[in-house]
Amino acid sequence: MTLCHNTGKYIYTIFVENVIMTNQNQSRVTIKVLNQMKNKSEKISMLTAYDFSFAKIIDEAGIDIILVGDSASNVMAGHETTLPITLDQMIYHASSVVRAVKRALVIVDLPFGTYQADSKEALKSAIKIMKESGAHAVKLEGGYQAKESIERIIQAGIPVMGHLGLTPQSIYKFGTYEVRAKDKDEASTLLNDAVMLEEIGCFSVLLEKIPNLLSKKVFSKLNVPIIGIGAGNHVDGQVLVLQDMLGMNKDFSPRFLRRYLDLDTLISKAVKKYSTDIKSGDFPNKEEQY
Ligand code: KIV
Repeated sequence: MTLCHNTGKYIYTIFVENVIMTNQNQSRVTIKVLNQMKNKSEKISMLTAYDFSFAKIIDEAGIDIILVGDSASNVMAGHETTLPITLDQMIYHASSVVRAVKRALVIVDLPFGTYQADSKEALKSAIKIMKESGAHAVKLEGGYQAKESIERIIQAGIPVMGHLGLTPQSIYKFGTYEVRAKDKDEASTLLNDAVMLEEIGCFSVLLEKIPNLLSKKVFSKLNVPIIGIGAGNHVDGQVLVLQDMLGMNKDFSPRFLRRYLDLDTLISKAVKKYSTDIKSGDFPNKEEQY
């Protein structure tokens, strides 16, 4: 039982069959629910979030999965790549998101350098994320080379989402953010890796920036839900970076990105008006003071 800080009321959790409910009648999205959605061919929606305010809005809007992506390194901290973000920084973002979320499944990226050295370090990093953020699962990049780490994490009871295709933590190996696995060899490795990820127990696989036909092949081989970003529509769900789909990043226009708002312009207009109102003495007016 937990005390809700906003209302002062106690929120209790009861378990009804496979759905976790709260007394606010909110059913949680669990891995079991995602599998049921896949079996019913119901598409899965996923977005990134890195802070309490946005996470609360998108959770209340009904998004199924919230990813605390290491894209926080770019989006929140302004780094050129995802490489610099640390485990503690990821946990700070993840715990802010978890505090806001009542329904969505929250997945957190293991950042670069916290799981590649060996599988024991990978497990330690995953446990730290789960313990200190309260998230529900982790995601990590890579196929065969990450196998042992993923197995160890799953054995500890932590759900893992795999990530194949354009894996941004390997950007200096790729040298480009172009579409991956266009050639036969890379496509065949990706397909084998996807099958292996399912076999070792990943609850889902994320495919980033690969040809539509390759996603279709992966889809035909796997039973777990597949989430795509720039991987076409032959998958079970889609993910986008929240700030990109809200139009806050004018300089980023890949073909796969659909913008649902021009928030950059809207925020800029609001800030300019606020500034003008202060300078003209219009703000605050009589009703806006004590
Ligand atoms: O970190 C991230 O935001 C991601 C998405 C691009 C899927 O991994």
